[in-house]
Amino acid sequence: MSKVIKGGTIVTADRTNKADVKIENGIITKIGQNLSGDEMLDASGCYVMPGGIDPHTHLEMPFMGTYSSDDFESGTRAALAGGTTMVVDFALPSPDQSLLEALSMWDNKSTRANCDYSFHMAITWWSEQVFDEMQTIVQDKGINTFKHFMAYKGALMVDDDEMYSSFLRCAELGALPLVHAENGDVVAQLQAKLLAEGNNGPEAHAYSRPPEVEGEATNRAIMIADMAGVPVYIVHTSSEQAHEAIRRARQNGIRAYGEPLIQHLTLDDSEYKNKDWDHAARRVMSPPFRNKKHQDSLWAGLQSGSLQVVATDHCAFTTKQKRMGVGDFTQIPNGTGGLEDRMPMLWTNGVNKGRLTKQEFVAVTSTNIAKILNIYPKKGAILEGSDADIVVWDPTLEKTISASSQQSSIDYNVFEGKQVKGLPRFTLTKGQVAIVEGAIKTQEGHGEFVARKPFQEVNKSLSKWKQVTAPRKVKRSGIPASGV
Ligand code: URP
Ligand code: ZN
Ligand code: ZN
Repeated sequence: MSKVIKGGTIVTADRTNKADVKIENGIITKIGQNLSGDEMLDASGCYVMPGGIDPHTHLEMPFMGTYSSDDFESGTRAALAGGTTMVVDFALPSPDQSLLEALSMWDNKSTRANCDYSFHMAITWWSEQVFDEMQTIVQDKGINTFKHFMAYKGALMVDDDEMYSSFLRCAELGALPLVHAENGDVVAQLQAKLLAEGNNGPEAHAYSRPPEVEGEATNRAIMIADMAGVPVYIVHTSSEQAHEAIRRARQNGIRAYGEPLIQHLTLDDSEYKNKDWDHAARRVMSPPFRNKKHQDSLWAGLQSGSLQVVATDHCAFTTKQKRMGVGDFTQIPNGTGGLEDRMPMLWTNGVNKGRLTKQEFVAVTSTNIAKILNIYPKKGAILEGSDADIVVWDPTLEKTISASSQQSSIDYNVFEGKQVKGLPRFTLTKGQVAIVEGAIKTQEGHGEFVARKPFQEVNKSLSKWKQVTAPRKVKRSGIPASGV
């Protein structure tokens, strides 16, 4: 059965034109005037754009002694409600766990997804087994990105030795390293000092992670990637210091990418001063919210192209889970939600305020990351042959964001009370209409894994395992049980 999106204005990252879009079997088959089909979707007054891609989510993630609350069902339902049609989540091996075993755990979780998804694989420890399995992950499992945490000491954190070794391996496999860039050693010392001085509330979380720890780590990650001869993607870039390192690297011809979050663009550090413990703790994430100077820097980065992607790092914990950190801020599970709100918040604060053009909006919410992840133009495009992952965006629709009407399973929303203008009239996931003006028509299990090819054909013989320095003797606690 065919569908036609009729009477809208197509907006992509590189052009705007009035045309109808015909969809058959989940694929865009024709773009043109006066198209007909079995079913019509009225897009008059709307922009027909590639569905959003959120490359940074943590659904049902084991972390800091608990699991993030949204799973692949509620998380992707929230995504679709806000116009996002694909998410990329992180498979996280526990210390000493096989990458392939971790991947099969994430494969099992994702069977309920309402929209398409893919995975990044995290490198949380280093050994000959990890070195070997990275090749299988890239060549057989369709994953071309590896995540490295420079923070969360004693849990997910890797040291420079491990990171450099992994980056070298990424380079020869044609894979892209991703980095959570904060200096975990300095954070750990600042946390201990703050606690010793009696600063145990959520506001101390922000004091323990100043912009400098992010700037230093970002610069270090970029320099290490450059020495390994591989591009690098810095997740949740939140500060001018980190942005400056990315900007400078790019000016010098280094291929470094930066990903601000919608939370960092629109919420600031005054949230941590709120007298209500729950209010502040619900906003605890890493890196923390920053002040206006940093926000202005992130917006300028999106405008000038030195930052490329807006994500959410959706990692939602209930108030009850956040209260695990009463009396000790280091035990508050780190993470905030945003999947449903990323597109409306960015449109409202970006396009409606004149900071971003509509085409730039499409670029930073969909097309740029599709290109970076090597899935363009299957995703991130309105072209004949592309997947029919489409949002029909009505710039006149308005709502006030509220936990009482959200799809996420948690009991609050960090954007509570924010007024947004610009929302999906329809969201289509591979041709299936999942959202009609806020009404949910999602289909559990409709989503499929999107395999991503390496960035280059590996035609030279791969290097053999070589342990350069002695393996680390640090005893790391398991991820689910660990305090960070
Ligand atoms: O606070 C955050 N960002 N939680 C999720 C894990 C991560 O660091 O991305
Ligand atoms: Zn992170
Ligand atoms: Zn994250």
